[in-house]
Amino acid sequence: MAGASIWMRCLAPAAAFALAACAQGGSESANGDDWPDYDGPGTTHYSPLDEINDGNLDRLGLAWHFDIDVGGQSLTAPVAVDGILYFAAGASHVHALDAATGKLLWQYDSQTREKAGVELRGAWGSRGIAYANGKVFTGTLDGRLIALDAKTGAVLWTAQTTERNDGRYISGAPWVFKDKVVIGHGGADYAPVRGYVTAYDQATGKQAWRFWTVPGDPSKGFENKAMEMAAKTWTGQWWKYGGGATVWNAMAYDSKYNRLYIGTGNGAPWNRKIRSPGGGDNLFVCSIVALDADTGEYVWHYQTNPGETWDFNSAMDIELAELKIDGVPRDVILHAPKNGFFYVIDRKDGKLISAKPIVPMNWATGIDRKTGRPIENPAARFPEGKPAVVYPSPFGAHNIEAMSFNPSTGLVYIPAMDQGRVYIDPTGPLSAWTFKDGQRISNGIGEIPPEPKPRPATSFLLAWNPLTQSEAWRIPLKGVRGGGGTATTAGNLLIEGRGDGRFTILAADTGKELWSFNARTAVMAQPITYRTGGKQYIAVVAGSRFSTAQGYEPEWDYRTQQWRVLAFALDGKDSLPPPVEKDMAIPDNPAFHVDPVLAREGARAYGERCAGCHGAMGLAGGSAPDLLRSQVPLDASAFADFVRNSPLVSRGMPAFREVPQRELEAIAHYLRQRAREVAKEPPKAAPIDNRGQ
Ligand code: HEC
Repeated sequence: MAGASIWMRCLAPAAAFALAACAQGGSESANGDDWPDYDGPGTTHYSPLDEINDGNLDRLGLAWHFDIDVGGQSLTAPVAVDGILYFAAGASHVHALDAATGKLLWQYDSQTREKAGVELRGAWGSRGIAYANGKVFTGTLDGRLIALDAKTGAVLWTAQTTERNDGRYISGAPWVFKDKVVIGHGGADYAPVRGYVTAYDQATGKQAWRFWTVPGDPSKGFENKAMEMAAKTWTGQWWKYGGGATVWNAMAYDSKYNRLYIGTGNGAPWNRKIRSPGGGDNLFVCSIVALDADTGEYVWHYQTNPGETWDFNSAMDIELAELKIDGVPRDVILHAPKNGFFYVIDRKDGKLISAKPIVPMNWATGIDRKTGRPIENPAARFPEGKPAVVYPSPFGAHNIEAMSFNPSTGLVYIPAMDQGRVYIDPTGPLSAWTFKDGQRISNGIGEIPPEPKPRPATSFLLAWNPLTQSEAWRIPLKGVRGGGGTATTAGNLLIEGRGDGRFTILAADTGKELWSFNARTAVMAQPITYRTGGKQYIAVVAGSRFSTAQGYEPEWDYRTQQWRVLAFALDGKDSLPPPVEKDMAIPDNPAFHVDPVLAREGARAYGERCAGCHGAMGLAGGSAPDLLRSQVPLDASAFADFVRNSPLVSRGMPAFREVPQRELEAIAHYLRQRAREVAKEPPKAAPIDNRGQ
C-alpha cells in the first residue's frame, strides 16, 4: 500500500564515495514494494529493493510479457501498487495487470481518439499515470483528467482541465500528494497557449486551485501577486501569443516543505522577439516554480533560461535529494533541463548551489553563481536575422527520458544527447505561427538554411556526480536518441532500454554492462521495479515511440514490432514468440503518374498533417505505419477516401474529414514520389524531427 509515511532513503557515507546522500520522497512507498507514480517510490526513479542485484543477474529472466493491442504508440511509465501493475497505452487506454503474472484484470478506453479527432497532433499518448488512495489518475490528449477505481477501472470522476480546442493537450503524468491530484498540459509549440497547472480533490474531482505560469492581459487584472511580478518581465502584447511555459512533463512533491515544484516549458512562440519584442526575462518561462501544495500560492522560482528563445525548458525531471555539501546536509533539487546544464538548487529558497554543463554547448559560457543567471553568448540569439548554430538543439541535452539518482553511488544517470540546430528569424515580418487549417507551419523561427550545419548528433548515457558537478563515466549509444528512461536500485543496478532494441542493466557504480535482453523493438519508456508476493520484478513498456526514423538499422516497423509490457524476475522462465519478419519491399503502381506540382503541394500537406505520426519525409520510425511501404497510397482517389473516412480512428489514425480531395490526392503524389526516390536510393541518415516533446 502506498503509505502515508514519508519515504526517505538515507545511507551512511558510502565507503567508495565518502558522501551521504538521500533520495527523498514525495508520493511515498514505505518499503519500496510499490512504484506508485511517475517518479517512483521517492522522486528520483530509485528503488530501495535489492533482491535483484549485481551479484545474481545470471538468474534474471523474463517472468511474463503482455502484448499491448490498442494501436498507435505507448511511451509510458507503469505504476505498481499492491501487486497490480497499471499503465496507460495508446491514447490513455488504462490497463490493470496482475503484477506477478501479467494477467489482464481490467482495461479502460478513454475514447480519446474518437473525441480528439484531428486534434491528435502527434503520435503521443500518455507518458504516465498516478495511483493514490484506491484511485488511478490519467490525463488525456483532449484535456481531461480522469479518476478510475483502481479495483474495477470504473470512472469515478472526470474533470475537463482545458477548454475544448484551445490548443492544450495532456501527455504528461498527473502528480498526487495528500488529498490532491495535479495536472498540467502541453500545447505551446502549436498555439497561443498560456500555461497553468490545476489541483483537484482526489475524492471528488473538485478544483482546489490553479496556478498560471505566465501573466495574461494586464487590462483584465492579475490573478495574484506572482503574476503582477511576472508581468514586469514581459514587453509588447505578449498575451496575444499565450506566452507558453506549459507544465507538460515534470513536477515533484516535497513532503518536507509541503511544496509542489513545477517545471515550465518554452515560451510561445519560441522566438522571443515576437512574443516580447522589447526583451525581458519572461517569467515564468523555463523555470522551476515552488508552490504551496495546499493553496497553489507562489513561494519561489528559479529560471534556467531568462528570455528563453530556443525551445529550451525546465520541464525535465525535478528530483529531490539530500546532499552533504561542504559537510552540511542540504535539501536539493537535481535538474538537467534541455539547455545542457546540470543544476543543484536549494529547495528551501530556490537559490542556485551549483551548475555545470553536461554536454558541449555554446549558448552560454557558464552560470553566474551569485545571481544564478546564465552568462549568455549574444550571437546565440540570432541577432538581426543572422543564422546561429546553437547547441543543444530543441531536443535538448536531456529530454523526457527519465534520469535517476542513486543515493548509494551518489550518481545521477542521464540519457543525454549532443546535437545542435540552426536558428534564424523568419524572412518577412516576424509572425508567431503560420497556421493553415489549424496546423502550425512555423514557430517564429525561420526555415533552416543549407549552411551553416551543426556537427553530427550523438547520444550517450551519462553518469554525473552532482556533488562535484563532474562526469563519472559515459556509455556512447547508437542513434541520435539512443537511450531510454532510467531507473536505479539499491542492488547497484542501473536499468535502461535502448533505441536499438536492447533492455540493459549496468552496474550503477562502474557502468559495466551486466545483463541485456533483446526486446526486438526500441525500449524508450522508463523502467520500474516493484515487489509482490515477496518477489522483486523489473518492468518496462517496449516499442518504438519515434515518428521519424532515428538512424537505427534495421528501423523499427509499426506493423511488425509488438508493443509489450516486459516483466523480469529471478528465475523467470517466459520467452517471447518468434519475431515477425519485416517486409522491406516498396510496392509501386506503374500506372500512377506523379504530377510534380501536386507532389510539391502534397509535401507541404504531409508535413503539416501526417509527419507527426508517420515520420518526416515519409520515413517512419515505428509510431505509425510506413506509408512508403503501404499499398493504400497506390491509388490517389482511394487513398483520399481512406484518409478522409479513416476506418482506424480507434487505433490512432484520425479521419481527415475537412481536408479537400485535391490536398489528399496531392499527398498520394508526394508519397509516390518519395517511395520511388527511396526505392532507388535508401536514405543514409534519417532527418530529425525537430519538435522537442
Ligand atoms: C495521430 C497520429 C496520426 C496522424 C496525424 C496520421 N496518422 Fe495515419 N495512421 C496512424 C496510425 C497509428 C495508423 C495505424 C493504425 C492501425 O491500424 O493500427 C495509421 C494508418 C494509416 C494508413 C494505413 C496504412 C496501412 O498500410 O495500413 C494510412 C494510409 C494513413 N495512416 C495515412 C495518413 C495520412 C495521409 C495522414 C495525414 C493526412 C495521416 N495518416 C495522419 C496515425 C496517424
